[in-house]
Amino acid sequence: MDIDYSLIENEYNIDLKDEALFVDLEEALDHGVIVSRLAALVAKEIGEDEDFIYDMKVAGLVHDVGKMRLGRYLYGRAGDSLQVEEMKYVRMHSEFSYDILKSLGYNDNILSSVYHHHENYDGSGYPDNMKGEEIPLGARILRVCDVYSALCSDRPYRTAFPPEVAMELMIDEVKNFDMKMFLALQRIVHSDEFDEIRDFINAANIAVKKDKEGKNKG
Ligand SMILES: [Fe+2]
Repeated sequence: MDIDYSLIENEYNIDLKDEALFVDLEEALDHGVIVSRLAALVAKEIGEDEDFIYDMKVAGLVHDVGKMRLGRYLYGRAGDSLQVEEMKYVRMHSEFSYDILKSLGYNDNILSSVYHHHENYDGSGYPDNMKGEEIPLGARILRVCDVYSALCSDRPYRTAFPPEVAMELMIDEVKNFDMKMFLALQRIVHSDEFDEIRDFINAANIAVKKDKEGKNKG
């Protein structure tokens, strides 16, 4: 797929090449690691084979790589972040991710999982408003893990929710998710396997907070 970046640049009067800086690289990497680990566990939990589990590990790590092209327009913005997230071009990050990964030769399962990772089960997501099982399995797995990881992480406009609370918040949004994937994730969060991930999430939140404090002082 060819994406015409000049359209975005003209519409928002920005130069994506100049602005595509890693403002919050650390946060982005932490999120990738968490989604990767959870997605692999969900794939295993629902009985997928080793190859598929491996694809989910990779897809989880790289699903948001397209956000690099949005640079500081997405990351590192306090206060107005919610408004920023509503901007049309931010919704294009899954297409950017696909574009980047395709050029790097990632396989079709990874590509379709990444491209559709913001599709909602009820058809309200993007980019294609796909519904139910029409959405590739990998994308349905990434969707639950992505939302969960985001809720468990500090954001410029709110602090992280504790892992148990994050799960409860997702119940309110359950129409967005494939129930089978959601229940698999729920079992994982309540299993011993999750302890290591919980430690990682906590450590990541502390590290990012420290870096931000340092940045503000400096
Ligand atoms: Fe995303």
